[in-house]
Amino acid sequence: MAAERWIFPLCAAAFVSLLVFFYAIIGLTASSVLFSRPPALTYVRCGAGHPPSFAYYISGGRGDCDRVLRLLLAVYHPRNRYLLHLSTDASGSERTELAVKARLAIPAIRAFGNVDVLGKPDAMSYTGSSEIAATLHAASVLLKLDGGWDWFVTLSATDYPLMTQDDLIHVFSSAPRDLNFIEHTSDLGWKENHRVQPIVVDSGIYLARRTKIFSASEGRSTPDAFRFFTGSPWVILSRSFMEYCVLGWENLPRTLLMYFTNVVLSQEGYFHSVVCNSPDFKNTTVNNDLRFMLWDNPPGMQPHFLNMTNFEEISESELPFARQFQKDDPVLDKIDEKILGRWHHQAVPGAWCSAKGSSWMDPCSKWSNVNIVKPGLRAKKFAELMKKLLDECKSQLNSCK
Ligand SMILES: *[C@@H]1O[C@H](CO)[C@@H](O)[C@H](O)[C@H]1NC(C)=O
Ligand SMILES: *[C@@H]1O[C@H](CO)[C@@H](O)[C@H](O)[C@H]1NC(C)=O
Repeated sequence: MAAERWIFPLCAAAFVSLLVFFYAIIGLTASSVLFSRPPALTYVRCGAGHPPSFAYYISGGRGDCDRVLRLLLAVYHPRNRYLLHLSTDASGSERTELAVKARLAIPAIRAFGNVDVLGKPDAMSYTGSSEIAATLHAASVLLKLDGGWDWFVTLSATDYPLMTQDDLIHVFSSAPRDLNFIEHTSDLGWKENHRVQPIVVDSGIYLARRTKIFSASEGRSTPDAFRFFTGSPWVILSRSFMEYCVLGWENLPRTLLMYFTNVVLSQEGYFHSVVCNSPDFKNTTVNNDLRFMLWDNPPGMQPHFLNMTNFEEISESELPFARQFQKDDPVLDKIDEKILGRWHHQAVPGAWCSAKGSSWMDPCSKWSNVNIVKPGLRAKKFAELMKKLLDECKSQLNSCK
């Protein structure tokens, strides 16, 4: 009896709070509809003959919701696809918050429906192989969600772009769509003792609440059934290579995955070793990760956190992405202002944005043809680098060596 007495007030309270929540969402949508008439949706055209598009996998952890959102807006374009991931150390409510905020961020995200948040998160142990599992998971979700994208790009919450998507799409139009941008070497040096031979176990794979790795007391010999390559974990991989890795119609990606399960920092070796040991893909590697980073000499585990003192170097770089940054570092505001032309809570303007004219209005609150891009000055510098990289790739002097 006592329990029943509470049911009605409880239900009523839940109903009222639900109502308030829906009013909040409808209210926001309605206000954007009131102030700007819903723009006609122009269709994204993919494939040869159209500009390329990218599948962005943006991952973060606990407390990274706002950073991921900011990065999303800085790399947003209706042609692309976005998958956001907060690893298992973030709470379910953070994930919900990210999904709601991403949806409400700008009208284009609702209209094009090209942003998703991974509902079932993965563990991401620092230096462990669960990161590879998470990346392959993201790639397979993106392959399933969208048949149109050309390149898979990995970004973390600490990254930021150094050019507009118009610039990036324009320059990548000149590249064959089967190229893989992956910085790699088989010159292992000191890494042979510290990275290749130790056997590690990532508890994030089998314990619900642990994301640590531990080392076995025994080591193992350097593989001779395949060549071990290592390099930057930040990659831009072709759709065909991602299909090869995810579908595994040859056994190479699968056997290497099993081997790399017990390799420390496996995300610095897995894709590199698969691409270079595959006769079909090793000619498609461009030996560059296209990220701006500053390292100690000799390099530490992570590059420097970039700040205001590095802005000159950052703005002179021809590379499309930089890492890494502290949350809301003032230099990000400067990159927004001087390099991307982005205002707070808005996307980076591009040729697709058509609400120009009044200065108080977000130019991307309306849009026209999303299949054209208008490159700026930074595209020129990047195009020169791309040309050099394509020549290098053709000569094969710098690939899988
Ligand atoms: C890759 O390049 C090598 C040497 O340039 C060539 O012999 C080989 O046929 C190429 N492989 C593919 C799959 O194109
Ligand atoms: C910027 O970073 C460098 C080291 O990377 C540090 O020495 C310097 O104090 C930082 N400057 C600011 C303004 O935080």
